[in-house]
Amino acid sequence: MKKYKIAVIPGDGTGPEVMDENIKVLNEVSKKYGFELDYEFMDFDGTRYLKTGTVLTNDDIARVSGKDAILLGAIGHPDVKPGILEKGILLKLRFELDQYVNLRPVKLYEGVETPLKDKGPADIDFVVVRENTEGLYCGTGGFLKKGTPDEVAIQDSINTRKGVERCIRFAFEYARKRNKKKMVTLCGKTNVLTYAFDLWERAFYEVAKEYPDIKTDYAHVDATCMWMVKNPEHFDVIVTDNLFGDIITDLGAVLQGGMGIAAGGNINPEGVSMFEPIGGSAPKYTGKNVINPIACIASGQMMLEQLGETQAAASIENAIMKAVKNDIKSMSAGKMGYGTRETGDLIKEYLE
Ligand code: IPM
Ligand code: MN
Repeated sequence: MKKYKIAVIPGDGTGPEVMDENIKVLNEVSKKYGFELDYEFMDFDGTRYLKTGTVLTNDDIARVSGKDAILLGAIGHPDVKPGILEKGILLKLRFELDQYVNLRPVKLYEGVETPLKDKGPADIDFVVVRENTEGLYCGTGGFLKKGTPDEVAIQDSINTRKGVERCIRFAFEYARKRNKKKMVTLCGKTNVLTYAFDLWERAFYEVAKEYPDIKTDYAHVDATCMWMVKNPEHFDVIVTDNLFGDIITDLGAVLQGGMGIAAGGNINPEGVSMFEPIGGSAPKYTGKNVINPIACIASGQMMLEQLGETQAAASIENAIMKAVKNDIKSMSAGKMGYGTRETGDLIKEYLE
């Protein structure tokens, strides 16, 4: 029997609760489809940091590097200053494992309410390919004369030709594989960020030449936000830099019903990828059995797709679609009509 080694980082807040449901569903689907998932749990989280002062060691990175994939619940602890865990654990894993694409599908399922009243599942179905290891997330820059009236703060956006090009190529490949509208939209800001997005634009149109079957499209990031709300049906695959991708995928998550259903993958096509619900650790809901586990379960589905277990992945997606169509009342925590565990059970029951 095929066996996959999976690192599980339940993380902080509601992360462990949604991860329990993810694993419940994954265990069932792996039984049905004849493969084994061998989990190793890792306590890279705020609790360990508060106890030991450790964020993420080289040894921790070596441990996850040997796995076939990583499942992550959520990072962010109310007693730890913002930035320490996010940068020290989440971003460090993305960077160290060179997970250069952050893949975030935006897909409305039947029965889920979107704030766009007149749009339905046929209109809201696109994917954001967010560059995941560069841009303003590199942490380069610094202060000058900090704390004085003359203070200067600089934060640089790093865009390498290699980093940008591999992300763009991934987007074109993905559009081909998706086989829907076969269009890639570059989301940028060429009218103001005339260095960074000049490089992006040149790389985009050069790579596009290799994909004559895929249409190209461009939108500034502000216009992208507008079109995502007005005409989401326009989009198929959107490729963009790290910060713009971060921002537009929160908007995308809301269009598809909310953080409770939005999943993402941090992909290194040649290495170890990591899958997570895109929302945070929601500390105020911790331990109450009210958080929606669907986003985390959908991240398990994305992991199986990446591992090549496409039938098992489709089985999870179909089960989610049935649960949201027939049973789950809202994607918001506490309003689902079911608890966290009961939602997991429901999806498990629907697996075929
Ligand atoms: C996300 C999150 C992270 C990001 C934070 C927690 C660092 O918002 O995955 O979208 O900005 O990438
Ligand atoms: Mn974000």
